[in-house]
Amino acid sequence: MTEIAFAGLPILTAPGRVMTPRDASEQLVAAACAWVGSGPARICDVGTGSGAIAIAIARECPEAVVWATDTSRCAVALARANVRRHGLEGRVIVEHGDLLDPVPGELDVIVANLPYLPLELALRRPELAAEPPEAVFAAGDGLGPYRRLLGAAPSGSRLTAVFCFSSTGGCSRLSAPPSRPPSRRARRPRPRGRAPRAGA
Ligand SMILES: C[S@@+](CC[C@H](N)C(=O)[O-])C[C@H]1O[C@@H](n2cnc3c(N)ncnc32)[C@H](O)[C@@H]1O
Repeated sequence: MTEIAFAGLPILTAPGRVMTPRDASEQLVAAACAWVGSGPARICDVGTGSGAIAIAIARECPEAVVWATDTSRCAVALARANVRRHGLEGRVIVEHGDLLDPVPGELDVIVANLPYLPLELALRRPELAAEPPEAVFAAGDGLGPYRRLLGAAPSGSRLTAVFCFSSTGGCSRLSAPPSRPPSRRARRPRPRGRAPRAGA
């Protein structure tokens, strides 16, 4: 095991067995934290790897509860070790399983850095050769995991945003049913002197 800094936090890594977090993934942390603010929120980091994103969000958003899922048992063990190191066992729950399957109840925000590169690119991306292939590459056009994630995200629920890391090297918000983050929604004042409309 080695240690790196991610979002200014020490994170244990397992090179070759679990994807080592990249600085660019800090964009996901920044986007989710800006969206959530300081209020309560239920968040899931899908494909958590070392747990770096989940831990950084939990540190930045003191009222958030963060679920972290991964299909790799190695990643789950590493993420749990990192969560323990940061004393966040009460607010970051790491579970083994597919996408959102292990998460009970509703979510406000999903963040995901899932595999998104087509398998056929494997030989043309030598900088990724040291990473576990199943963490980086997926069949077909590579976007199957993200398509399945969007299909799995419950529609009509309180989910407000899905932030994903994309092949353009940036972070994108893929969906946002209501346009307000949960903490701001909770604080929105009613207009004075007017009763709320029925059904509003
Ligand atoms: C690109 S790595 C990113 C790891 C971490 N989020 C980061 O940014 O450092 C993708 C991770 O997603 C996991 N993964 C792949 N398919 C998954 C699925 N269907 N459900 C949950 N995790 C999955 C892989 O095991 C791997 O740990």
